[in-house]
Amino acid sequence: MTMITPDPTPDRLTRVPGLLYGGDWNPEQWPEEVWAEDVKLMAEAGVNLVTIGVFSWARLQPDAHSWDFGWLDRLLDLLHGHGVAVDLATATASPPAWLVRAHPELLPVTADGVRLEFGSRQHYCPSSPAYRQAAVRLTRALAERYHDHPALALWHIHNEYGDHVQECFCAESAADFRRWLRERHGTVEELNRSWGTAFWSQRYNSFDQIEPPRTAPGPVNPTQVLDWRRFCSDALLALHRAEKAVLDDVSPGVPVTTNFMSMLKALDYWEWSRHEDLVSDDAYPDPADPRAHVNAAMNYDLMRSLKGGQPWLLMEQAPSAVSWRPVNLPKRPGLHRLWSLQALARGADGVLHFQWRASVAGAEKFHSAMLPHRGTTARGWRETVALGAELRRLGELAGSRLRARAAVLLDWDSWWALELDDHPSARMRWPELLRPWYAALHARGITVDFLPPTGPYDGYRLLLAPNLYLLDTATAERLTGFVRAGGHLVCGPFSGIADRHDHVHPGGHPGPLRELLGLVVDEHWPIPDGATTAVRLGDAHLRAEHWSEWIETEGAETLARYTSGELAGLPAVTRHRQGRGSAWYLSCHLGTDVGRVLDLPLAEAGLGPELPGLPEGVEATRRRAADGTEYLFLLNHGPAERRVPLERPGTELLTGTATGEGLTLAPLGAAVLRLPATEERP
Ligand code: GAL
Repeated sequence: MTMITPDPTPDRLTRVPGLLYGGDWNPEQWPEEVWAEDVKLMAEAGVNLVTIGVFSWARLQPDAHSWDFGWLDRLLDLLHGHGVAVDLATATASPPAWLVRAHPELLPVTADGVRLEFGSRQHYCPSSPAYRQAAVRLTRALAERYHDHPALALWHIHNEYGDHVQECFCAESAADFRRWLRERHGTVEELNRSWGTAFWSQRYNSFDQIEPPRTAPGPVNPTQVLDWRRFCSDALLALHRAEKAVLDDVSPGVPVTTNFMSMLKALDYWEWSRHEDLVSDDAYPDPADPRAHVNAAMNYDLMRSLKGGQPWLLMEQAPSAVSWRPVNLPKRPGLHRLWSLQALARGADGVLHFQWRASVAGAEKFHSAMLPHRGTTARGWRETVALGAELRRLGELAGSRLRARAAVLLDWDSWWALELDDHPSARMRWPELLRPWYAALHARGITVDFLPPTGPYDGYRLLLAPNLYLLDTATAERLTGFVRAGGHLVCGPFSGIADRHDHVHPGGHPGPLRELLGLVVDEHWPIPDGATTAVRLGDAHLRAEHWSEWIETEGAETLARYTSGELAGLPAVTRHRQGRGSAWYLSCHLGTDVGRVLDLPLAEAGLGPELPGLPEGVEATRRRAADGTEYLFLLNHGPAERRVPLERPGTELLTGTATGEGLTLAPLGAAVLRLPATEERP
């Protein structure tokens, strides 16, 4: 009888077992003799996946009539022979000179009408038929040639859509925009209604009269700009989908990804991730920023959330310094290890880099690499080898998942609309509103997911909405249902303002949230730059900056009041009990003080840190395997040694030692504990 052994890692990203480790390798920069050394060193470092071909278009297709695959055949065979799997790029991010000169119209044009030149990368108009046809042709040629190559483990479409070019204002883009608008609005009358063209004499008689929002004498119609943002995300996605369709057709069964750019305004990643087999991300936290790990944690939580908690892949990070900031600090010893473990702690099943071997020519020759210019005597190389060895020790946690009971609501449409011009204050920017909320949760050791406002909300007790400027009635009703059924919602200021056309909801702000929050906003009251308004919450004195609102309660209780300025005495923070839950409203931007308020709904929702007694500066997360085994990550981001109390004995996987009631973490120290399965934590 044949015993069927269940796959121990059913959730793994690719067919490569364990955690993925490696980076972009651009070997076309060197003679082939160097490749032999590279693969030998990859084995020494424990590299099991490399990304090939990201910028190889000009090499693969030297002109319109010829292909050169010989070098790539030899490269893939060489890697396979050394046990290294390949993440093969479709090579479409940097069209070659011959293509650009044959089709100069494929170069992108700025809002001011400047056509951008060849000589960098990503020089293409997202709506260019010539670019798209050539990209799809190249993708098909690669897929047909390599779909059954034994080294192939993952397809890597393009590279960082939206990195350099997010929009193009050329005639082809204009035509594509008009096509998109026709599809969205149906008739020009409907578009006129949606864009509110009755104001400022902007009425259109036909779609042909519409252009992209190029530089104009004054403010451009806001709904036109909002539709443009939606269109630009869709136009790039259409390119991605065209390549994905080819890969799905010719190379079924091999997963496909494109590398995201963390929380990028230009691309609606909820929509994009529906077209990914796995989510991958490029992350470059700044070693000069002592709070960089908080921002990184936030981005990693988003990446994990994009496909509902599925493990994701850190596709690129710098082994040490980057070369594109004005001043590029290296990572001090131990920092790269800690930050790599942080990605795993937040659900990644692999850490890859840009790039394997440091370039000696070109724009990125001062960017760090896994194999630095100095070679194997460099500190960087020792760290590359050491990290590879540690990842092998952690291989068993691949496929395990985090679980959060709180979620932050993020909506790209609302983000785009919030940041349109001519609002009460230009200081209301989504990242600035979100960051203090996230930092407060991070400091309290609370794991959060991200979620679109439409849900699904199952399993969450607390939803946090630092801002929901754009909100339709149906979503507001869903949120109301969540609260009435026992959930808790915390909503930040300037929410519930506009519908999807960016038309203000009639009848007073916060529009469709008015009943749920039990209040009405009489007037927005922005705070001038540099000034603050005092807020009193119980015994605590908080400070609002940038934004406050004159609100009147309609059933909500007042928890905090303004105590200075024009609004002194008026409610600042409220709670409205509805059904079995509660809806909280913060009418001002509280910056780093926001945590004092968030403590209240956190307590009401019964949410506490991943590990009780967590010392300051130590990040803790828990991944759980399908069999209930827990992996507790403890990461000391602070400059001082920290003692961490532990709930129960386990095994520390990096050192292979048994743990007791606590452990000590050195500065930048980390521990990954395997804890046997217990009853599910509530
Ligand atoms: C990324 C890009 C890589 C490399 C890297 C350097 O944005 O995808 O090709 O340029 O930055 O940090």
